[in-house]
Amino acid sequence: MNNQTGTLAGKVAVITGAGRGIGRAIALAYAHAGAAVVCSARSRNEIDETVALVVASGGTASAWVADVGSHAAMLALFQHAVDAHGGVDIVVANAGVWGQPRKVADSDPANWAETIHTNLIGAFHTAHAAIPHLRARGAGKILFMGSGARHATDPGMSAYSASKLALWKLTQVLAMELHEHHISVNELIPGPVKTAMTDFGRRTFAPSEWVKEPDDVVPMAMFLATQPDIGPTAQSYSLMRRAG
Ligand SMILES: NC(=O)c1ccc[n+]([C@@H]2O[C@H](COP(=O)([O-])OP(=O)(O)OC[C@H]3O[C@@H](n4cnc5c(N)ncnc54)[C@H](OP(=O)(O)O)[C@@H]3O)[C@@H](O)[C@H]2O)c1
Repeated sequence: MNNQTGTLAGKVAVITGAGRGIGRAIALAYAHAGAAVVCSARSRNEIDETVALVVASGGTASAWVADVGSHAAMLALFQHAVDAHGGVDIVVANAGVWGQPRKVADSDPANWAETIHTNLIGAFHTAHAAIPHLRARGAGKILFMGSGARHATDPGMSAYSASKLALWKLTQVLAMELHEHHISVNELIPGPVKTAMTDFGRRTFAPSEWVKEPDDVVPMAMFLATQPDIGPTAQSYSLMRRAG
């Protein structure tokens, strides 16, 4: 740990879904690289634990309880980042839910809508609330956590796949809207990662697929956070092992 000279020294990163899984791994890595990290999710105990891990290793972090489904909560989250850490440079819109994997005919409409609301509209809320603060810095980075499910056509996956496919279009359009402000917007597709989300569905994966630990997603998240202001935008970066 070297907060003063790390590759992200002086940066402030806001990470949604930072209480466990991929979001926690990215929060710990960004803090290790010198960023101050704001760790957000709905579960207070989990984000407090992420912050405690950062602080125990000499980093800077704060926890902020917020549901990405609430635009007001996202406004408050980014105001907290400014008040506590002085601004916002990097946003990882990582919060997401798997939903109930059911065929459309068997779906609970409320759960279908909730999956879209969290994964797509929640990411929109996150970006929308972050943009004024990124523009105030003169540059910034937004990472949307995508999914290979947006390429797939698996029965039972309509809500999750649709949410992530639309998230990719949001990535591309927002990137075009923000490139003149030196704010990059990219999608990271982690492929299968062993987290609470994958355990929940007792999912199986193609035998050729790389089933990862959350830490395996870190190098790509670090790459995207450390590109120059004129660096890649409107791009998708995948850690999967299949075409499409
Ligand atoms: N694991 C995989 O194989 C995989 C593959 C492709 C893409 N992804 C994507 O990677 C991201 C992270 O997934 P993960 O596997 O790390 O899942 P996870 O371990 O279940 O973590 C999800 C995180 O998101 C938070 N979250 C969920 N709903 C939220 C809401 N409405 N508001 C705020 N925070 C919320 C959770 O905390 P609370 O519940 O406490 O709010 C938790 O911190 C997701 O976008 C997922 O779609 C995962």
